[in-house]
Amino acid sequence: MDTWRTPDGRVTLAYEAVGDGRPVVLLHAFPLCREMWAAQRGLADRFRVVTPDLFGFGGSPVPAGGWTMDAMADALAAFLPGIGIAQPVVLGGLSMGGYVALAFARKYPDRLRGLVLADTRAEADTAEAKANRDKTIALARSESSVAVVEQMLPKLLGEFTRKNRPHVVGEVLRIGTAQSADGIAAALAAMRDRPDSTALLPTIRVPALVVVGAEDALTPPDGARAMAAAIPDARLDVIPTAGHLSAMECPAEFTTAVRMFLASL
Ligand code: MLT
Repeated sequence: MDTWRTPDGRVTLAYEAVGDGRPVVLLHAFPLCREMWAAQRGLADRFRVVTPDLFGFGGSPVPAGGWTMDAMADALAAFLPGIGIAQPVVLGGLSMGGYVALAFARKYPDRLRGLVLADTRAEADTAEAKANRDKTIALARSESSVAVVEQMLPKLLGEFTRKNRPHVVGEVLRIGTAQSADGIAAALAAMRDRPDSTALLPTIRVPALVVVGAEDALTPPDGARAMAAAIPDARLDVIPTAGHLSAMECPAEFTTAVRMFLASL
C-alpha cells in the first residue's frame, strides 16, 4: 500500500498501483476497500491499475468534517497527477465507487478516457433510502461495522454466491468488518446526500461499460439497462450468477468484460 497526501496534509489517500500502460482506476463499493479489486489487478499485465481507498476505508482517513461525492472526485483529480498520471484515465466504480465516478465525470469530463459503471445507479437516494441511511449510521455508531456488514450481506451478495461461494462470503465479511464505524458513518452520509446524476448520463462523451450482476438486489439489471441506454456510447454486460458485488462474485467474468472494453478503446 502507498499513501498520497495533499501538500497541506488535509487529504490523505491510500492506494495500490500495479502494472504499466494506460491507467485504469477502480473505485470500491461500500463498506469495503481497495482489497475488493484483488482479481482485477490481473489487468496489470497490460494496464496500470490504480485502486485507491475512498475516504474512511482501508488506509484512507475521513477528512475533517466528513466528505461528499464531489469532494472525493476533487481529491481524485489532485491524486492522479500527484502519482504521475497526467493523461485521461479509464475510471471504474462499483456501486458507491460508481457514485464517485459519476461525480468525477460531471466535474472532470476531460480527464476521462472511458467509464465503467458497475452495480451502481445515477439516481439520488429516495426519502425512504435517506431515512434508512440515518438508521444505518445510528447502527454503526451504537454497535459497530460488524453489525452493518451483517445486516447488508444478504443484499450485497447474490443467492448463488451465498449458497455456493463461501470464500466470497468470507472475503466480504473480512474486508467489511475491518472498516471503522466512523468511516462507515461518513460514507453513509455522503451517499445519502449525493446529487442525482441522471441528467449527466446523456452528456457523457466517452465510451462506457455498464456491468451488473443478474442477481443484483440493490441496483438491479433493469436500472443498469436504463443507465446504459441513456449514455450515448455504452455497452451493457449482465453477469449471470452474480449479485451486487459482481467483481468479487464472478471475478473472471467481470475482469474479462473490463478487459474487452479496454481493448476496444
Ligand atoms: C455499495 O455497494 O457501495 C452500496 O450498497 C451502495 C449504496 O448503499 O447505495
